[in-house]
Amino acid sequence: MQNILSYQEAFISYLKQFKTDREPKSLYEPIDYILNLGGKRLRPVLTLMSAEIFNTDYKKALDAALSIEVFHNFSLIHDDIMDDAPLRRGNQTVHEKWDVNTGILSGDAMLIMAYQLFENYEPETFRDLAKLFSKTALEVCEGQQYDVDFENRDDVTIPEYLKMIEYKTAVLVGAAMQMGAIVAQASKAEQEGIYDFGRNLGVAFQLQDDYLDAFGDPKTFGKQVGGDIIENKKTFLYLKTLEFSAEAEQRELQHLFSVSPTDSSDKVQSVKQLFLSSGAADATTKAIEAYTNKAFSVLDTLDISEEKKKLLRLFGENLMTRKV
Ligand code: IPE
Ligand code: IPE
Ligand code: MG
Ligand code: MG
Ligand code: MG
Repeated sequence: MQNILSYQEAFISYLKQFKTDREPKSLYEPIDYILNLGGKRLRPVLTLMSAEIFNTDYKKALDAALSIEVFHNFSLIHDDIMDDAPLRRGNQTVHEKWDVNTGILSGDAMLIMAYQLFENYEPETFRDLAKLFSKTALEVCEGQQYDVDFENRDDVTIPEYLKMIEYKTAVLVGAAMQMGAIVAQASKAEQEGIYDFGRNLGVAFQLQDDYLDAFGDPKTFGKQVGGDIIENKKTFLYLKTLEFSAEAEQRELQHLFSVSPTDSSDKVQSVKQLFLSSGAADATTKAIEAYTNKAFSVLDTLDISEEKKKLLRLFGENLMTRKV
């Protein structure tokens, strides 16, 4: 096993030689743009690490890792259209830099490219990767639809929210790990174990994403701070604020979230104040820790060396202290 940074570097140099400078430019340039805009590269790193955890050279998992990252970036282009987001990784979103139609079609092409990358594997591995990928991609769509539906509902429950983030985000983190295990020809039980670790880590990851969306530093966050509040997203912060508040504050929050999305910094400030004073912000931090620990306890059940567990724990701990 290597350290986390060297997997990241190996992935980035593999990505660099993934050429997308084809015609028509208007289709491929946005793809090049989003893929080279940076990002944490978490999911592909997890795929590479997972292959080595199950005793296979990470190089064999590079195409699976690339597939996951291309899919992730496709989902970001479409997500930014759906969320009306102006900023991604400190730069203009694709639909702002070009237009919505460009974002739709370049995104579609990326989804196809992601599948195509599996063609580099032997038939059995190809089948298992494609099967997992199809199931996961459909779940991501379901999660994204719940996310949007919830914008216009005022009766969303915490279990509904948790299912939504499991689908839109966590299953892809689980799948990233399982793909590494598939490439390594690990047993079904091993595949399921590592998937479950990734899924729980993914829930913690999305809770943290929600937290940073409200409380991140605009100078470093890379996305529009307060974007979820502007869009009336029913996040953990929002739902816990309702749960913890007296009737007057509940009504205030519901009123603030009844207006259609406008860029109102007053709204963002008032809502953030309620998130803090209600104790919802603290409850979110605790939930992030709880789901990370849940992932760690899955780790305890896996039959892999202590050194490997330590590396995965370090990965989870690093996620908790992230600022982007
Ligand atoms: C953003 O994912 C979308 C979510 C699922 C929260 P990341 O935070 O991994 O985005 P990048 O790739 O590092 O920019
Ligand atoms: C994104 O959730 C999930 C997917 C892209 C599938 P968010 O909408 O919270 O992601 P960000 O905050 O825009 O990165
Ligand atoms: Mg978004
Ligand atoms: Mg979204
Ligand atoms: Mg977000």
